[in-house]
Amino acid sequence: MSTVMNIPPPGPYHSLMDITPRPDVVFVGGQGSWLTDSEGRSYLDFIQGWAVNCLGHSPQPIIQALASQAAKLINCSPAFYNEQMIRLAELLTRHSGLHQVFLANSGAEANEGAIKLARKWGAKHRDGAYEIITMDHGFHGRTLATMAASGKPQWEQLYPPAVQGFTKVPLNDIDAVKTAINSRTVAVMLEPIQGEAGVFEATKPYLRALRALTRERGLLLILDEIQTGIGRTGRLFGFEHAEIIPDIMTLAKGLGGGVPLAALIAHRDVCCFEYGDQGGTFCGNPLMAAVGCAVIEELTKPGFLDRVVRTGDYLAGRLRTLSRKYGYGEVRGMGLLLALDLRWDIAAEIVDLARTRGLLINGPRPDSLRFMPALTVTDEEIDRMIEILDNVLQEVSARRAGNAG
Ligand SMILES: Cc1ncc(COP(=O)(O)O)c(C=O)c1O
Repeated sequence: MSTVMNIPPPGPYHSLMDITPRPDVVFVGGQGSWLTDSEGRSYLDFIQGWAVNCLGHSPQPIIQALASQAAKLINCSPAFYNEQMIRLAELLTRHSGLHQVFLANSGAEANEGAIKLARKWGAKHRDGAYEIITMDHGFHGRTLATMAASGKPQWEQLYPPAVQGFTKVPLNDIDAVKTAINSRTVAVMLEPIQGEAGVFEATKPYLRALRALTRERGLLLILDEIQTGIGRTGRLFGFEHAEIIPDIMTLAKGLGGGVPLAALIAHRDVCCFEYGDQGGTFCGNPLMAAVGCAVIEELTKPGFLDRVVRTGDYLAGRLRTLSRKYGYGEVRGMGLLLALDLRWDIAAEIVDLARTRGLLINGPRPDSLRFMPALTVTDEEIDRMIEILDNVLQEVSARRAGNAG
């Protein structure tokens, strides 16, 4: 009886599973930083599919890659080589300094692959060690293993029994990692910036200390760059800021620029999958891989990433000014992955009101807003976003003052 009572009321489109409270808007088009709904209204998009559309909506390089590859070869089989999977693997290894790639379809699938690879390596080289130390509040995806690797307390009781083998420690606490290591430990896994948790950085000294510690103890360092990778922080990969290199890295989101594409990339010494250990029907399909190549080629053009740094600094500066005006807190993050600390639990109210004013932003926590625009966003679009947000904040402040009075 109680299960029936807990089912949320259905949304307006009954044939879709009601998995999240979606606003009553249907999007039909997108161009650059702008989305259009079925009523013809425009929205300035600072969510971009959750930091996915790195080149904005429907960018020319992706349209061209899709059209020309679709006309040539959409799919053969993951059991055969195809031209685009080879090209993408070469681009990823050349730019990352790692050696081998497994292409996948989603971040969770890439992370699941990273967990499997670490366990396989532990079985072969570390006497069966399999435990992975992960971070409180980390986010690694929604498969059963990646949910168990994530540090979301509310997930611990969802879908029991949980996958075993993950030990959680607080972020940026190297002593906690040292204490958590035991003979079963095979790896440490984390995001360079915890995006879903609200944009909290793993500090550079911490990442360097982790790299040194994992080397010293013979453990693997796995970096989940699904949100921070592909130019989001102003470098192609987030780990470059700390001048380290992980043993395993995962990518998704920006890699496909809007299409489902992910990658598991590893140092040659770690690549120990044997035939049959890993695979998937769509893994390495040429249509998606062609898009990945187009994205990497665009981002590695001279000046592209410098521009992300400049635009990120501009956005951060404008957010700081807004924060001072309203008595809010810090601006966190790097490049074009930024969050504004609101000090009060008003994010949901701001996000809803902003949408009605034609601005899409995200509230990863009740007291924070997150900004992850296209990496091609212009200063004018940032100015427009700040103008809309300023009006929204004025209204929210006035409401709060009214309620207090
Ligand atoms: C850091 C990180 N890892 C993994 C994932 C899961 O990726 P996907 O939703 O493509 O499975 C996400 C998604 O937000 C993420 O931010």
